[in-house]
Amino acid sequence: MLEMMLHPSEFHSQIELHNHLTVEFTESLARDVREGLNAGQKHLPSKYFYDARGSRLFDRICTLPEYYLTRTEMKILEEHAQTIMASFARGDLVEMGSGSHWKICRLLQAANGTGGAHLRYVPFDVSKDALVKASRELMGQFPQLAIVGYVADFTIHLHLLPGGNRRLFLLFGSTIGNFPEPEAVRLLRNVQEIMAPGDRFLLGFDMVKPAYRLNAAYNDTQGVTSAFNKNILNVVNRHLHADFNPALFDHLAFYDKEKEQVEMHLQAREPVTATIADIDLCVELAAGETIHTEISRKFTPESARVVCSNAGLEISRWFSDEEGWFSLVELALSRA
Ligand code: SAH
Ligand code: TRP
Repeated sequence: MLEMMLHPSEFHSQIELHNHLTVEFTESLARDVREGLNAGQKHLPSKYFYDARGSRLFDRICTLPEYYLTRTEMKILEEHAQTIMASFARGDLVEMGSGSHWKICRLLQAANGTGGAHLRYVPFDVSKDALVKASRELMGQFPQLAIVGYVADFTIHLHLLPGGNRRLFLLFGSTIGNFPEPEAVRLLRNVQEIMAPGDRFLLGFDMVKPAYRLNAAYNDTQGVTSAFNKNILNVVNRHLHADFNPALFDHLAFYDKEKEQVEMHLQAREPVTATIADIDLCVELAAGETIHTEISRKFTPESARVVCSNAGLEISRWFSDEEGWFSLVELALSRA
């Protein structure tokens, strides 16, 4: 569904916006909430964090002193953007879970010297607010850039992407770590299936590191991560007429060394009863009971390689920071 075309006369570029999350969004939220809150360990899918407020809170997380991920990945991008873009002078930059414009900006700046006028930016995100905001920022900085945005779910709608051009797929922020192994392989496999031989895929992995660093990154002292986590309850309240009181929950995040992942929960401080009118559901939590909202897996060079190769992708280049805290890998279709 083509929703709108922004073409301000002061700019040469334009944003074409395709919105695939209209009626479908509330329907799938209803299904996921019913399934997740009826389960033994209650859970909610993390894609529902990102309404307008959630996206703003996530932007704040990215600038927190404890949250090293964004800074580290940006540094790697700054250092290697020229190298990455040298072999990609024309075609589509398809960014999945694009969020803010900071990271793509680095690649576009690097490409500017080498013929960036032939690039098209294709952001793909469930958050319309984040996508429109980022696109407007980019329009200001790169007046010649064509932008075709997809407000859609990258676990469902990747086949809707426009073909025809050579493509560089991008998945930054260790978003791949928010999926358990089988789902991560499926997501990468879905990208692999639409890749042509000359296409490339740049994928960010957060790496295993001492537990205290990881615990700090997901338990910031300003409470932004806590507000972000609790925001998922506001999303459920608004879309399904529920009455969760976020103040009755604590943010709980901890690194599980065996599973090599941070787990995020919302923990009821006291017995909680909530009604979700639109799906006719009454939810009860005992004091101390949790709703599991997110995992953030941490990778070793080996586990990163495995998830890629299981999806039929081969690592062509590996970029990292000095401490090896974050990895940005460039992938191509496996030759076999
Ligand atoms: N790329 C940015 C943002 C990462 S946060 C960065 O590296 O900092 C994850 C982003 O993915 C958010 O913008 C969120 O709205 C989006 N997102 C989460 N689940 C998604 C899904 N299933 N489909 C599309 N976008 C999704
Ligand atoms: N991809 C991000 C990460 O795993 C997502 C994220 C950051 C997140 N902070 C969070 C998700 C807090 C839930 C709660 O780091």
